[in-house]
Amino acid sequence: MARVRLDRLSKRFGAVPVLDDISLDIAAGEFVAFLGPSGCGKSTLLRMIAGLESVDAGQIHIGDRRVDQLPPGGRGVAMVFQHYALYPHMTIFENMAFGLRNAKVAKAEIEARVAEAARILEIERFLPSKPGQLSGGQRQRVAIGRAIVKKPDLFLFDEPLSNLDAALRLRTRLELAQLRRRLDATMILVTHDQVEAMTLADRIVVMSDRRIQQIGTPMEIYARPANRFVATFVGSPPMAFLDVTLNVGADGLARAALADGAGVQTAMPLADLPSSPTWRLGVRPEAAKVVAPGTGLVDAKIAFVERLGDRTLVHLRLADGGALTAEDAGTSRAAMDDIVGLAIDGPVHLFDAEDNAHHPRAPT
Ligand SMILES: Nc1ncnc2c1ncn2[C@@H]1O[C@H](COP(=O)(O)OP(=O)(O)O)[C@@H](O)[C@H]1O
Ligand SMILES: [Mg+2]
Repeated sequence: MARVRLDRLSKRFGAVPVLDDISLDIAAGEFVAFLGPSGCGKSTLLRMIAGLESVDAGQIHIGDRRVDQLPPGGRGVAMVFQHYALYPHMTIFENMAFGLRNAKVAKAEIEARVAEAARILEIERFLPSKPGQLSGGQRQRVAIGRAIVKKPDLFLFDEPLSNLDAALRLRTRLELAQLRRRLDATMILVTHDQVEAMTLADRIVVMSDRRIQQIGTPMEIYARPANRFVATFVGSPPMAFLDVTLNVGADGLARAALADGAGVQTAMPLADLPSSPTWRLGVRPEAAKVVAPGTGLVDAKIAFVERLGDRTLVHLRLADGGALTAEDAGTSRAAMDDIVGLAIDGPVHLFDAEDNAHHPRAPT
């Protein structure tokens, strides 16, 4: 278990910068997810921590040691890749033992470590098998086993679930959560899947445009997104944005007025907001409800309806061109082209012209 500190890391490939000024402090034993769209530099950052990519500027500490100039083998990390390659001609035992044999670990110690990892991952019965006899999920567990036997201070997972089908991904995700409790280790998971990040991580590092956009617990990221990128990337379907003007409402709180004047009360004191030429109101689907026409904030036309069984997503188009998604019951009678009322019932978010979010002060 080791603390990990990234201090002002930068990286470019040739003339192309891919990471800019990345600083992060991960506590010993913490599970952190790097979350962001494809190509934002997540794998590159993980590979820099592992020692598989060089560092152009900045420092990496694992535990008390500065490691950014050390070879991968000297860093005490183990990495599990999306495209894990097992040796097809070796048994599962041999696959898991391979790295330890290369590192000249004693035979008895190798056997003990492989047995322990196999027990944790519940793959003991496969030890004599060849990879070809295992399913994709079982092979992925062997790949994780190869990391566990190294007894690293830090586990690095690069999209370990991306190659699995949906059902197996869900099961393996739960296994990863349980594994985490059994291994007292610091873990970093790279993923583009917000559900994986939300469900597995103690803290999420949201990345885009070469930079860290926000660091926070899953619920901080969800409830208090730092900017429009984070607000859109986390949450499905994503938060909708309506053009509004601000005026003063009850108790000095900002009231966000739509084009036709209908206003939504926010929890944000108007006096705490900076001046901005434009404002947007962010509304998550669960804060938007479908009501009878004429009884809501405004009337809207249903653009289309998605029935998910337990709930129904109703995609609305407002008269001023704005669009948003409302949640209705699973038994909703909403139908395309219907005119309905839109009610806002739940937290809303304000975004200035620079796309920065403004939230009420956190309760202390
Ligand atoms: N070895 C490399 N040489 C040149 N460009 C690279 C190399 N590896 C990654 N890149 C580029 O760096 C950016 C970040 O890639 P990557 O870290 O793989 O993103 P992510 O894992 O978030 O999808 C991408 O634009 C990618 O094309
Ligand atoms: Mg990647």
